[in-house]
Amino acid sequence: MKRHGIDYEALDKTHLWHPFTQMRDWMDSPQLVIERGQGVYLFDTKGNRYLDGVSSLWANIHGHRHPVLTRAIRWQLTQLEHSTFLGLTNVPAVELAEKLVAVAPRNLTRVFYSDNGSTAVEVALKMSFQFWRQKGKEFARKKTFISFTNAYHGDTIGSVSLGGVDLFHQIFKPLLFKSYKAFYPDCYRCPFGKQPTSCEVYCVKDFEAILKEHHPEVCAVVVEPAVQGAAGMLTAPRGFLKRIETLCHEHHIHLILDEVATAFGRTGTMFACEQEQVTPDFLALAKGLSGGTLPLAATLTTHEVFEAFLGEYADFKSFFHGHTYTGNPLACAAAAANLDLFKSEKTLQKLKPKIAYLRRGLADFWQLRHVGDIRQAGFMVGIELVKDRDSKTPYPAKDRIGHTVVLEARRRGVILRPLGNVVVLMPPLSISHAELKSLLDVTYGSIEKATQELERAPASRRPSSVYNGRTAASLQKQRKNIGSNS
Ligand SMILES: Cc1ncc(COP(=O)(O)O)c(C=O)c1O
Repeated sequence: MKRHGIDYEALDKTHLWHPFTQMRDWMDSPQLVIERGQGVYLFDTKGNRYLDGVSSLWANIHGHRHPVLTRAIRWQLTQLEHSTFLGLTNVPAVELAEKLVAVAPRNLTRVFYSDNGSTAVEVALKMSFQFWRQKGKEFARKKTFISFTNAYHGDTIGSVSLGGVDLFHQIFKPLLFKSYKAFYPDCYRCPFGKQPTSCEVYCVKDFEAILKEHHPEVCAVVVEPAVQGAAGMLTAPRGFLKRIETLCHEHHIHLILDEVATAFGRTGTMFACEQEQVTPDFLALAKGLSGGTLPLAATLTTHEVFEAFLGEYADFKSFFHGHTYTGNPLACAAAAANLDLFKSEKTLQKLKPKIAYLRRGLADFWQLRHVGDIRQAGFMVGIELVKDRDSKTPYPAKDRIGHTVVLEARRRGVILRPLGNVVVLMPPLSISHAELKSLLDVTYGSIEKATQELERAPASRRPSSVYNGRTAASLQKQRKNIGSNS
């Protein structure tokens, strides 16, 4: 489709390389060229309207082109677009830091900016590592980290070293540093055969065992609180995070919370860690920080950590890390306006009934017989589709069931993005009840159609009966690989 005489789709296919995308598929199939956004909707060059069901990769909060955010960015453009943060500061970056500290857990008083979720985590890793080096004595042995099975912390090498999604991370294994992988709750396929209502977070024992054995060499534990997003919206039972925090304190280990996906209201509170009154040593933020407008990330930490980096210049205790666009004034101005909007629009208060509405709407999805599990943490939802509900047998990857659902939803005017066989719903927090209803209706209809069509497909296209689910045996195997980035 040509627009202003230009065929953007063809040009894209000639020059671009998209993230997490098999480019042969991309080039072989029709693609949407997005031109405009308004509220929860995106519009393509053909004038079609789509509900943004995943908040443009989990980032948008108040809707596209919210006038307050647009005004803040515009005004900032009339003042300063960028100046370096190395040796200088700037007005919006200072204002934002004050606002962030005001809403963050009380012990977090320092803000270090970067550009994206991966770097927010990298900064925390490097700060923690350097902190312990500078402490010296017995702490100088601390050189590694504990993260969790199925974790996703981004795509830079440090973040990948902590990752646990084999599909993304396995190939880079020779490049990665050592870390220990503890078991993250997977209540749908609990390898311990427990029920979340009565398990008393049994699975945290795996973390305890690793900690007991290796704590003298561990700088920090890195964890996604409440829900592991990219893993397929795996929700952790209440108590899991609190137990981790307690154990970290007992063993002189930092707690790094990766709230890149969960912060800014996503789970119903400003930060997910508030729900268990957990106060981390580091908090990694990105995505919703700027309301989904501009790339910005922040790593928040404590006075204790900050203080350990103070000294004479020649002591070389400075944190030697930074990016060209650190503290970018446009992004900081947008983020400050984003935080103001939470107050002026009562975003979190208005969210509560929407979360309840979403929960009620999702209950209907159990009528679809290929829905194996429905996981919800506030406005983060994963609907896991299975070939067989009773045995929890997954669809094989070749069926691309998630992708098929997404294509169907697109035909019906909704943008979704799956995580394998998990259909993700993560709309902007500003979505209305009516828009939420249409998101639910389209998702329901799309799952129904895609699963029925797959059943009707000829035998050659039918799923094989290979069971890919994780079992106690696979956990055993994973545990054996601990320390080698399994
Ligand atoms: C929990 C978590 N951490 C880190 C990242 C990486 O963020 P970015 O894509 O901005 O680098 C993501 C992205 O989805 C995430 O979900």
